[in-house]
Amino acid sequence: MKITVVGTGFVGVVSAAVYSSLGNQVIGLDIDPNKIKSLKQSKVPFFEPGLEKLLIEQQRAGRLQFTDNYKKAISEAELIIIAVGTPSKKTGAVDLSYIFSACKSLAPHIKPKVIIAIKSTVPPGSFTQIKKTIQELTAKKFYLVSLPEFLKEGTAVSDTLHPDRVVIGTDNAQVFKKLAALHQPFKAPVVKVGIESAQMIKYTANAYLATRITFINQIANLCEHNQANIEEVIEGIGYDQRIGHHYWYPGLGYGGSCFPKDVKELAAYAKNHNETDNLMIQLDRLNEARIPSLINHWGKIVGGWENKQVAILGLSFKSNTNDTRESPASRIVPQLLSSGAKIKAYDPKAVWKPANQQNYQQVDSIKTATAKADIILVLVEWPEIINFDYSTIKVSKKQFMIDARNQLEPDSISQAGFSYLGIGRN
Ligand code: UGA
Repeated sequence: MKITVVGTGFVGVVSAAVYSSLGNQVIGLDIDPNKIKSLKQSKVPFFEPGLEKLLIEQQRAGRLQFTDNYKKAISEAELIIIAVGTPSKKTGAVDLSYIFSACKSLAPHIKPKVIIAIKSTVPPGSFTQIKKTIQELTAKKFYLVSLPEFLKEGTAVSDTLHPDRVVIGTDNAQVFKKLAALHQPFKAPVVKVGIESAQMIKYTANAYLATRITFINQIANLCEHNQANIEEVIEGIGYDQRIGHHYWYPGLGYGGSCFPKDVKELAAYAKNHNETDNLMIQLDRLNEARIPSLINHWGKIVGGWENKQVAILGLSFKSNTNDTRESPASRIVPQLLSSGAKIKAYDPKAVWKPANQQNYQQVDSIKTATAKADIILVLVEWPEIINFDYSTIKVSKKQFMIDARNQLEPDSISQAGFSYLGIGRN
């Protein structure tokens, strides 16, 4: 199949490389010539395990190309996959402007009966305007389909090669058949649903996972008031097969480029439809409040943040990615700096700095970041950070170790001489 993927951001590049690995002829298209220039040389502008290798293999095999030329990329395509960003507006509602501008650029060049699959996360109701935008610029027939994405950053290549399911939102049996055949090599269940169900499936999956994270953090808050340990609670509930042990790590709330924006869109959608008590509104509020309230809580225990030397370990939003969008550090660092702390930060892959860099420094090792620190904040579960031998950096003064993802062994940290603080863990 001749496929063009519009947008070479995270989802776009991974999708282009994986569809190419299935033997399809794929073109990745982007309006940013610099991105295209580096992708042509198999250079991925972000860190994602296994992606560069796949890109090199597919380009060498002659199945994968990149271009910024719409005419060249679109005119032969049998399937166009739109994978441009859908960020949040200030109101929390989704901003579809990149989708509309991609549709305007591609419409004049499409082949008759092309399938246009929207992989970007867009809400129910949005296809009316998307369809109209394309129809205003072409008289050719096209099929608009919802093809939501479920990959996770850090494991994106294997998630895409081995999906739990493929969801195809279309009312057209022929179009479904073609797309089901395309995805058949994944050997995953292929779910045929209506367009708006597919869109709701995407939002519901993310909202459910975000609810789960918020739920366990709320229970962890309650454990702080008694002798219960949240890790033991998780172990105990997880044997219930309806609940399970996975995806229950307590922490700083959910971050990254997807959950916060998707929950905000659902909250805005609920408000727009007069569902003013909808859980999504409360979910977003709780997630926004989580980091400031933990920083206040820990601030009281460590005797305030003013003039404290703080080591921040982990700047990405989670491990195995250098993506810092909605990362814990991006919210914690400004709050600590404005409370008078002095910060040395370290991350194995991510680079990040606050707007005001006074009293902030990103350094190149855990040792340098933690030297003379009063408080060490472990924010991300990078293996290098959680496996580090903290007894080697102990200094004589009182030092706190805040384990914001419950990844360290409290006893060994205490034995190394630190005052250990976790999440809902006694
Ligand atoms: C998420 C979904 O997991 C994917 O299925 C989805 O395709 C993607 O969003 C998307 O919509 O594009 P991702 O943002 O890469 O993927 O990250 P996750 O690994 O799901 O983590 C999201 C956030 O939740 C992170 O801040 C993580 O630290 C936090 N989290 C995750 C927890 O606090 N506790 C957990 O148990 C798991």
